[in-house]
Amino acid sequence: MKTQVFTIHDPQAAQEQLLDAGRILRAGGLVVFPTETVYGLGGDGTSPQAAADIYAAKGRPSDNPLIIHIADPEDADKYAYTTELYFALAKAFMPGPLTVIMPKRDNVPSSVTGGLDSVAVRCPSHPVARALIRAAGTCVAAPSANISGKPSPTDARHVVQDLDGKVDVIIDGGECEIGLESTIVKIMQDEQDEPYLVLLRPGAITHDALCCVCRRVDIAPAVAEKLAENERPLSPGMKYRHYAPTAPLVLLDGNDDQVLAFLRAEQASKNCCVLCYDEEIDALSSGTLIPVGARDDLAAQAKRLFAALREADATNAEIIYAHLPPMQGLGLALYNRMIRAAAHTVLKI
Ligand code: TXA
Ligand code: MG
Repeated sequence: MKTQVFTIHDPQAAQEQLLDAGRILRAGGLVVFPTETVYGLGGDGTSPQAAADIYAAKGRPSDNPLIIHIADPEDADKYAYTTELYFALAKAFMPGPLTVIMPKRDNVPSSVTGGLDSVAVRCPSHPVARALIRAAGTCVAAPSANISGKPSPTDARHVVQDLDGKVDVIIDGGECEIGLESTIVKIMQDEQDEPYLVLLRPGAITHDALCCVCRRVDIAPAVAEKLAENERPLSPGMKYRHYAPTAPLVLLDGNDDQVLAFLRAEQASKNCCVLCYDEEIDALSSGTLIPVGARDDLAAQAKRLFAALREADATNAEIIYAHLPPMQGLGLALYNRMIRAAAHTVLKI
């Protein structure tokens, strides 16, 4: 398949190309598009064939469900049984980096939801994503646009590396603003029929922010802990190893000075790659240093993380070191992605 690349920064200036891409989606084709989180690999969310093609292009197991993307928060009602809590979340955070899981309606094929009777719905804020969904005239099922097991793409170049020749169109909208996938919550009901949320995947909408809208927000154990063998997570995606670099990634837990001393010693004796804070560049040898942002700028680190993991992969280092992120605020999202990329390898220093 020959993949076309459309460069679109302003949807107003690219209406023809967006209409084309919308037609391709409606006809069953695959279109990669930018969102504020990461790039998505889109297909018609009401088509079992499109879902099968998405799984094939990504090399993803078909029991791992897809998120459907809508242009306006109210459109969720067409595909899911919404509740008051959904609309409260929509008012606070949509369009934006939040995905909500609710019972699905019949027009969403079970091949999209990995056989589950619930569906994940997200209304992205990226103007190109919203214009594309409108042009398609249907919901757009889209996982992150990477080959299964690779870091999610935050730049169209990553998408080209992974999916050139496997999709009809790649829309290049530049670098993604947030860089980590959306926060995922599932709407639940307690014994008194009171609604509450379970946080399945942390993202830029933090636990604290969710707690401002809903009294009870549980954090699924798989967010920060290792699942036991045979344990079934609430979200099928949690059981897969993600974002795994080829060389082992080791997360360092210790105070700044101790970690820096450790890294200098390692650099002297090993071919290692270091994902370092900007402040550490001068103190380390330049070999394979990959700066990830300032120490206290978690948003910058989130934006850089996946590109940094891809860069680390491209070095021939035998081991990759990075700092263990804090578990508060946006740190929890970084922690969740990094602990899995590291297969839970943390070195206490
Ligand atoms: O930011 C994002 O969410 C990006 C962009 C493209 O929108 N998409 C994304 O999709 O990260 P994906 O497929 O890479 O991750 C979706 C996660 C998977 O871990 C999947 O298991 C979970 O959402 N999921 C989807 N539907 C679900 C459902 N009905 N119940 C539980 N988990 C679900
Ligand atoms: Mg993904």
